[in-house]
Amino acid sequence: PTAIGIKAIQFYYPKNFVAQVDLEKFDGIAPGKYTAGLGQIEMGFCYDNEDVTSLALTVTHSLLEVYKIDPKSIGYLCVGTETLTDKSKSVKTSLMDLFGDNTDIEGVDVKNACFGGTQALFNAVDWVTANWQFQERLAIAVMADIAIYEPGNARCTGGAGAIAVLVGPDAPLVIERGFRSCHMANSWDFYKPIGGEASEYPKVNGSLSVKSYLEAVDKCYNLYNQKVIKQINEGRDTNAFTAILFHCPFYKIVQKAFGRLIYADHRRGGDSWLTNTDEFEPFREYSDEKTYTDRDFNTAALQVSKPYFVQKVEPNMTLNQRIGNMYTPSVYAQLVTFLAKFDPIAATPQRLLIFSYGSGLASAMFSIEISDAENSELAKMKEVASGAVHRLEDRIQHSPEAYAEVMANREKLTNSDVPVIPSSSQNGISSHLFPGTYYLTNIDVNRVRSYARI
Ligand code: ACO
Repeated sequence: PTAIGIKAIQFYYPKNFVAQVDLEKFDGIAPGKYTAGLGQIEMGFCYDNEDVTSLALTVTHSLLEVYKIDPKSIGYLCVGTETLTDKSKSVKTSLMDLFGDNTDIEGVDVKNACFGGTQALFNAVDWVTANWQFQERLAIAVMADIAIYEPGNARCTGGAGAIAVLVGPDAPLVIERGFRSCHMANSWDFYKPIGGEASEYPKVNGSLSVKSYLEAVDKCYNLYNQKVIKQINEGRDTNAFTAILFHCPFYKIVQKAFGRLIYADHRRGGDSWLTNTDEFEPFREYSDEKTYTDRDFNTAALQVSKPYFVQKVEPNMTLNQRIGNMYTPSVYAQLVTFLAKFDPIAATPQRLLIFSYGSGLASAMFSIEISDAENSELAKMKEVASGAVHRLEDRIQHSPEAYAEVMANREKLTNSDVPVIPSSSQNGISSHLFPGTYYLTNIDVNRVRSYARI
């Protein structure tokens, strides 16, 4: 099979959000830290009757429905998530309820913080590559997470969402073969240990997570280029891409990450198209290690990269800035925004560079090529993506007090005796869910979870 890649995409995010300016006041910190400092505008959240399974059911059902995908045409299904509600049973098994008589669907969940969704996508691509000649069936990768933190400086970097993509041959968004590059290492920057009181919250070493992320950007970009050079005899600088998409825990880290790509281009000497690189001169002797945390270096890198950031990165960050970190779907939310804005008469080929990061750590860089801008599957994806962006305006804004109460209810449910009905499912279904959303109706005496669709 040729041109294997993404043929359909769907995005679900919660109907509820809190404004970051309100959170700044509520947390009693200096105004501007979450907004100007981290670059975030709003943060989406789920009530206690949404969990990772309900999110995955919602987005997968909607993908099948909106694109009229025959459940029998699917041969592989994989969920990437870190919001586990069970140590053994895959979320994927719950999604089998959507596939009727077709029980011949390979795949189980993959987990590593925000990276599992990318591994799910890679697995889907590889499954199609290996199996198409025998059974001509397609694959689905699902990324779904609820990002929540205990009160403190990380809480404002939460969010929630789910993305499902259909993968197959002759796709309008082709995952380029042979260029996938990884940086995998052992880091305790963010993790969710088992033991003690049950908690949905991670343990986080914030500064280590930021440094590990930026280091991974460098390593992956370098390796990506080595692999490109090996195949096509010349490397690619940032100017080779229409857009560059990054895992986005918050806007500021993406600015810094893009600055690192520009710095790497400059050091490779492939920067003839960049202006004001003189600003990098004072840092010529700096070790990489020093550049990750040095304020002056970061100011210079943001300065040099800004005109290109505004063209290639920022336009696709709307959903990230207004929903927050969604963990696994985070980088793919930028793909949704890119598709929403895609111009069908744009010159092709266009190329996208994608950086995915999951603490712990696992990271990868890969590229997507769009060669037929007028493709009908691409047009459908654009329509669905535009709908997802517009739906931002249909959400309900809540106060930080209401957000804190919802978090307290989630904590209570996590440690509740069973059987139990989530507090938000007790008094009929309220207006905090979009139509078509699955929700948790109850957890029975054996901790079996049941769901319904609104
Ligand atoms: N006005 C404007 N800017 C401000 C203000 C203010 N009043 N106060 C602080 N800032 C700036 C800071 O200068 C800093 O910017 P800089 O990085 O350019 O210097 C920025 O706001 C953030 O301030 P910090 O003091 O660095 O923030 P803090 O350390 O309290 O928390 C952190 C940030 C570590 C990201 C925290 O929110 C966290 O732990 N989040 C979860 C972990 C995370 O998301 N890690 C990223 C990769 S791993 C993953 O995806 C989960």
